Amino acid sequence: MSRKPIIAGNWKMFKTVSEAQSFFSEVKGKAEVEGVESVICAPFTALPALVEAAKGTNIAIGAQNLHFEDNGAFTGEISGVMLADLGVKYVIIGHSERRAYFAESDEIVNKKTHAAFKHGLTPIVCVGEKLEEREADQTKEVCKVQTEAAFQGLSAEQAAQVVIAYEPIWAIGTGKSSTAADAEDVIAYIRGIVAGLYGEATANAVRIQYGGSVKPNNVTEYLGQANIDGALVGGASLEPASYIALVEGAK
Ligand code: 13P
Repeated sequence: MSRKPIIAGNWKMFKTVSEAQSFFSEVKGKAEVEGVESVICAPFTALPALVEAAKGTNIAIGAQNLHFEDNGAFTGEISGVMLADLGVKYVIIGHSERRAYFAESDEIVNKKTHAAFKHGLTPIVCVGEKLEEREADQTKEVCKVQTEAAFQGLSAEQAAQVVIAYEPIWAIGTGKSSTAADAEDVIAYIRGIVAGLYGEATANAVRIQYGGSVKPNNVTEYLGQANIDGALVGGASLEPASYIALVEGAK
């Protein structure tokens, strides 16, 4: 089965509204390549302007988080209802920075994944091991636990639409990337986890990205691996030329 490659920029806590607009005007028509899905996951404040700017283009806009409830007394939170209403298509869930700094558990990640589907958003669910877990040879076990927890209670139809991002935490923002062969090994294993839960057809449909110091000069090598269907990119997604090169490198 052929899976459409997906490059997603995760801007993290970068860019004001005007910076986002000027970025978009530079990538419009360029970070749009036949056969590649291009997604920009921006801070909440920039989403309305980006959704507006992205109309009529092949660039999708994503959020970086959502609350699992639709509404309520949750000061400072944003729900799936609100994101869907804006026209946002994707949402990153369970990024390691949210797990580490905002105490997001596997259970919360699962609730957020259900909330995304409830509102027609495609979740990009992040999994990945810490350095000490890698050194203790626990990479696969950590990814198994996180993946199984995230998928709990999803139908096979929903499961097939999830985008998983395998991001080894030690490779995020460090310039130390996993080798393509190591990333492929873990990602093939994660696909096997999905096969165990839902069968081969679903596992073959799920797209799995690698994330962690992906740059224009290494993206093609990752995407060349049999099981790697895209990249979730932080730092290198912030500059227009670099983002365009990432999308071009995925075709
Ligand atoms: P970098 O590409 O900056 O290493 O960040 C990876 C990441 O965390 C994307 O979600």
